[in-house]
Amino acid sequence: MEALNLDYSKVPSSETVKSVRKIDAVDVTKVYSTKKSNFVALDRVSFHVDAHEFVSFVGPSGCGKSSLLRIIAGLEPLTMGNLSISGHEIDGPGADRGMVFQSYTLFPWLSVRENIEFGLTLKGVPLFEKRAISDHFMELVGLNKFAKSLPKELSGGMKQRVAIARALANNPEVMLMDEPFGALDPQTKNSMQELLLRIWEKEKTTVVFITHDIEEAIFLSQRVYVMQAHPGTIRSEIVIPHGLREVEDVKDSEAFVKLKKQVISLIGHHDE
Ligand SMILES: Nc1ncnc2c1ncn2[C@@H]1O[C@H](COP(=O)(O)OP(=O)(O)OP(=O)(O)O)[C@@H](O)[C@H]1O
Ligand SMILES: [Mg+2]
Repeated sequence: MEALNLDYSKVPSSETVKSVRKIDAVDVTKVYSTKKSNFVALDRVSFHVDAHEFVSFVGPSGCGKSSLLRIIAGLEPLTMGNLSISGHEIDGPGADRGMVFQSYTLFPWLSVRENIEFGLTLKGVPLFEKRAISDHFMELVGLNKFAKSLPKELSGGMKQRVAIARALANNPEVMLMDEPFGALDPQTKNSMQELLLRIWEKEKTTVVFITHDIEEAIFLSQRVYVMQAHPGTIRSEIVIPHGLREVEDVKDSEAFVKLKKQVISLIGHHDE
């Protein structure tokens, strides 16, 4: 892994907080096998995510970001290596992990409220409690006026807000997000990023966020893993200076632009 020498003198230093390991990945390798060949999508990928941390993975198309997230979600087995959540080896999907995908994955025949309550209904949560939870999360994502709307009546940004609310309603320990704002226009994307940060600060969820947008990764995260393709590996780990995003118009600030340039040069090209 390459070390990145950054000048953090202009931004406040990171707080020293005792951290609890949430995800631990050691030498995670994924090989897709077909009749004709074996394809190494992830090659000995090691990383960690602490409790309440916001960590992004950024990298070009095909570097294995979605594969990695699906493995963490338990939707895909790893070929070699170890991956544990809260000290337990991952063995299939679980309610401890909530997923939000790029493509809108709401149930089209269910209303906003019913979508958000879906996992709670499966768990048999009593109606009174279920309503209180969906009210809370509809409020959080600003959709309380759309409780009865169907997904087809919503914009892309609104659908993703429902998807986020639905994932959060199950009170997951970890939110796994695969390019959730990738299909949104720039303005909607910006407001969704700010909303996600507000939610993260309030709900104290651990977030693993996948994107190929470097700016998005720097803006949202506390740490960023930069990946590269052929085969998919982690190239470097970047600690985002604490307090960076408290600056007004942070994305135009000197510290932010400098950091972004350094990450782009690290990747070697601008993959957007
Ligand atoms: N089920 C599969 N069978 C065979 N190959 C696969 C499978 N899923 C992914 N791959 C291959 O593994 C590599 C990594 O795919 P993955 O979808 O994880 O990349 P990604 O970083 O998410 O890309 P993107 O940014 O385009 O979403 C790609 O070359 C892809 O073709
Ligand atoms: Mg992907």
